[in-house]
Amino acid sequence: MPLARRLQLLRTRLFLAVRAAFVSNQVLFAFAGIFLRAHDSVLQLPDSSCTKTWCCLHLPAIWAHDSVELPDRSSNAMIRKTLLVACFASATGSGWVRRAHKRKQRNATRPQLQPVTSEDVSRYFARNDLDGLCAALRDHFSRTARQPGPLDGKLPLRDALVAKGAGAHYSSAYKLQHDVEQLQYVAARNASIAAYLNEHAVIERFQRVRRRIPPLDQLQRTNGLWAFRPEDTADIGDFYNRAIHVPDPQPVTPMLNAKSFADADARYRAGPFAIDDALTPAALDQIRSLLLESTVFFETKMPAVFGGYVGAIVEDGLHARALLELADALRRAMPETLGDHPLAYLWCYKYDSQYEGISVHADEAAVNLNIWLTPDDANLDPASGGLVVYTAKPPATATAEEYNQRGAEFADELLRSTDYENVTIPYRQNRIVVFDSALYHKTDSFRFREGYENRRINLTLLFGKMRRGHDAPAAGEL
Ligand SMILES: *[C@@H]1O[C@H](CO)[C@@H](O)[C@H](O)[C@H]1NC(C)=O
Ligand SMILES: *[C@@H]1O[C@H](CO)[C@@H](O)[C@H](O)[C@H]1NC(C)=O
Ligand SMILES: *[C@@H]1O[C@H](CO)[C@@H](O)[C@H](O)[C@H]1NC(C)=O
Ligand SMILES: *[C@@H]1O[C@H](CO)[C@@H](O)[C@H](O)[C@H]1NC(C)=O
Repeated sequence: MPLARRLQLLRTRLFLAVRAAFVSNQVLFAFAGIFLRAHDSVLQLPDSSCTKTWCCLHLPAIWAHDSVELPDRSSNAMIRKTLLVACFASATGSGWVRRAHKRKQRNATRPQLQPVTSEDVSRYFARNDLDGLCAALRDHFSRTARQPGPLDGKLPLRDALVAKGAGAHYSSAYKLQHDVEQLQYVAARNASIAAYLNEHAVIERFQRVRRRIPPLDQLQRTNGLWAFRPEDTADIGDFYNRAIHVPDPQPVTPMLNAKSFADADARYRAGPFAIDDALTPAALDQIRSLLLESTVFFETKMPAVFGGYVGAIVEDGLHARALLELADALRRAMPETLGDHPLAYLWCYKYDSQYEGISVHADEAAVNLNIWLTPDDANLDPASGGLVVYTAKPPATATAEEYNQRGAEFADELLRSTDYENVTIPYRQNRIVVFDSALYHKTDSFRFREGYENRRINLTLLFGKMRRGHDAPAAGEL
């Protein structure tokens, strides 16, 4: 065979081979595209690979085609058209794959810059997407000014949090006292935290600021709140209301004692009631430790108005997986009561040892669950320390103004008309109080032993949307 003919054959074979590669490339792209679209996979194509493959495979194909001698002009034109269509399809295909890939990467790393709202919590719960909820809460929290260290580049604390007393510019004596006790508690249990606190003398800094705060009667203008002075900020600015230790252990299973929930749905229909021995011992231990250790109790109230208790909320650090699993387990344990009501809110309050009653209020939700976690022997008066639930609801006609701004006064008028008819449920560790969240209620006064671990802890879970009066839906801020 003459050399020229051999060369020509070689070129034709090369062309066919390249075209085969081209077609399989197409098929590959199509499958990769379908695969990427269909699965939430972790398929990772380096970003430039599509372009590179395109160049490697298509340019030689065109080159080979141009130099191949073909039998007649018509098939030549046909091949040209086929190639054009194929090139177009391939380019589109690779573009499509690349875009899908980019979208995927963006999704994987899309920063959760918006805070997670109560509606978001409900949406995730309604979809049973606890993973998604945890990830969103964690991601947003990890970008905020709560994280220790310099503030540059972090999301500032939202006004709504600052307005609730969870900012970083003022505090109260009891809040700093709580923080000192909590840091000492954590340091005794976690060597790396102890080392960090020692290195920066954090506890001493808190104690110094605590000592600068005058007694309550000298702080009447601010109802007991203390605005930080420059020397206070120099002392604790880098540490106050920061997420120094936020444990997130693997949740224990099971969370609940199934026996205790056997008739819970039926009892709910009859009015406010208590479930005793609700959590399994392992779950009780896990949840209580979490709430004792997590440095996410950022909220202080005005001491002169509300007394001493610090608060933590789900969208500002109180998002350990175990807490969300607990909410999920409760929904499953009371399908009739909570089945249609996803979790809307979760918060926790930790009290000073003595307490003289919070004002009467109702919470914007369908069902209200309160869990008590501190051991009974901390309670110095077993008949008190619990919750008073009144049998009256705000009427469906109550305006937002009556309901929110004039809350206590409005409630009092209403409660007087029912002669303060109430169900009073005394404090007991591992007891869950369940009631229609629209019912007016208040924490009973109490006396608990001194000491960090003896502080009364009250974990509140709110499910669903409130029904005021007769099933009237109500909107409102929590
Ligand atoms: C990316 O996220 C959006 C919204 O969260 C979703 O609609 C979309 O399907 C996601 N895309 C991929 C490729 O996962
Ligand atoms: C101590 O705390 C750190 C930071 O929160 C955590 O990563 C670590 O697991 C803790 N160690 C123990 C022994 O609990
Ligand atoms: C609850 O009702 C009882 C009467 O059943 C009444 O004596 C008591 O004062 C009420 N409690 C409150 C806190 O209103
Ligand atoms: C728990 O705390 C919340 C917020 O202060 C309050 O509404 C609720 O009555 C408290 N529950 C108990 C049982 O103390």
